[in-house]
Amino acid sequence: MKPLDVLMPAEGMGIIADLIVEKLPLHRLWLEPDPDAWFAEWGPRIRAVAASGPQPPIDAEFMRGLPNLEIVASFGVGYDHVDAMVAGEYGVIVTHTPGVLDDEVADTAVALTIMAVRRLPQAERFLRAGQWLEGPFPLSASLRGRTMGILGLGRIGKAIARRAKSFGLEVVYHGRRAQTDVPWRFYASLIEMAKACDILMVAAPGGPETRHVVNAEVLSALGPRGVLVNIARGTLVDETALIEALRTGTILAAGLDVFENEPHVSAELIALDNAVLLPHVGSASLETRRAMADCVVANLVAWSEGRPPLTPVPETPWQGRWGK
Ligand code: 8YV
Repeated sequence: MKPLDVLMPAEGMGIIADLIVEKLPLHRLWLEPDPDAWFAEWGPRIRAVAASGPQPPIDAEFMRGLPNLEIVASFGVGYDHVDAMVAGEYGVIVTHTPGVLDDEVADTAVALTIMAVRRLPQAERFLRAGQWLEGPFPLSASLRGRTMGILGLGRIGKAIARRAKSFGLEVVYHGRRAQTDVPWRFYASLIEMAKACDILMVAAPGGPETRHVVNAEVLSALGPRGVLVNIARGTLVDETALIEALRTGTILAAGLDVFENEPHVSAELIALDNAVLLPHVGSASLETRRAMADCVVANLVAWSEGRPPLTPVPETPWQGRWGK
């Protein structure tokens, strides 16, 4: 077999490059002083890309610079930074890292929910600022008797639903279709689900199809007791509408791990006391990120050894042939 030269366009987590370099020839584009000259010289040699984060997008233009590309192994379960449809048209397999992060992200989702409803970060800031000496922290809302509406009941959505159930919450969901093997009520309409629930949990994939599905109308349906939690992608939520809804009391609070323009978070959002904000740490434990990196490397190594990819995305299913 030809050696599998792997290109990493952006640095991402160090462990990804460290693990790849143990097994395969690796090219680190971010260290190249003249990327255009590098592409001209090395582009045709590259058969694999390890995509570690949202930037740069692995789109048609990027893939055209790599005429012999065969596989894009992306770090993370969400792969909205890779144009998988175009990859499919070019005969390129895209892989992601499903399954290994569901519980970690679901833990974060539940934590964000509790933090936002019970105002725990605000309470901690209150103590640290010495305000307890002047009187008790104001009472918060409660999770008791609440319904969680999950937008996107995939693996992570289900892991959240199981946790929510054990916390005594009613669970309902909205997605592309009703699932026959789950005990939770399905809503065909997001607006109707938003009216029926108190906590709207966003757990659906990002990308153009779901852009701004949580808009002013949905937030207004969620209502003044409502809490929005987003652990998926910032693009699903119209952030301007969300800021307005939080400012005017259209909804009670928000817990956000993801934003429209990461790592830039709007100053207006930062200024809001009823928003709990985390820097996209849903899966960010040592163990889980290591498992994700192992999955990226396992896909690349399988490919280099002439075995099928382990976790291809649905847009580029394995069809039993290697390369072009
Ligand atoms: C990572 C994620 O933060 O898996 C995903 O889709 O968003 C996260 O687990 C991300 O992949 C890091 O680049």
